[in-house]
Amino acid sequence: MSRITVLPHPHLCPTGTSFDALPGTSICDALLTNHIAIEHACEKVAACSTCHIYIREGAASLNAPDDDEEDQLDDAWGVEAASRLACCARIGGADLTVELPMHTRNLARE
Ligand code: FES
Repeated sequence: MSRITVLPHPHLCPTGTSFDALPGTSICDALLTNHIAIEHACEKVAACSTCHIYIREGAASLNAPDDDEEDQLDDAWGVEAASRLACCARIGGADLTVELPMHTRNLARE
């Protein structure tokens, strides 16, 4: 099990939280399972960027982003080096600290 710490976010997680999650689980699924209603407009197929998150600790333990994820991240709001798409990033076994961006941008293509 990995311990996932989510930093406070005014709407999605006002006081912050932490929970355990199985390695191999996407961070998006782990957040949703633990009642954090992260957006996932494309239903988790790397086609929107609404599940954009920042990995503040433990990023090296995650799977590397593939080309689809990199392409979608280019269009996300507030991208930085710590950015990942939560539907693509899979828990690797280490503990993680996750920050949810203040805004999202839905560029899902129909
Ligand atoms: S849910 Fe759309 S990119 Fe992750």
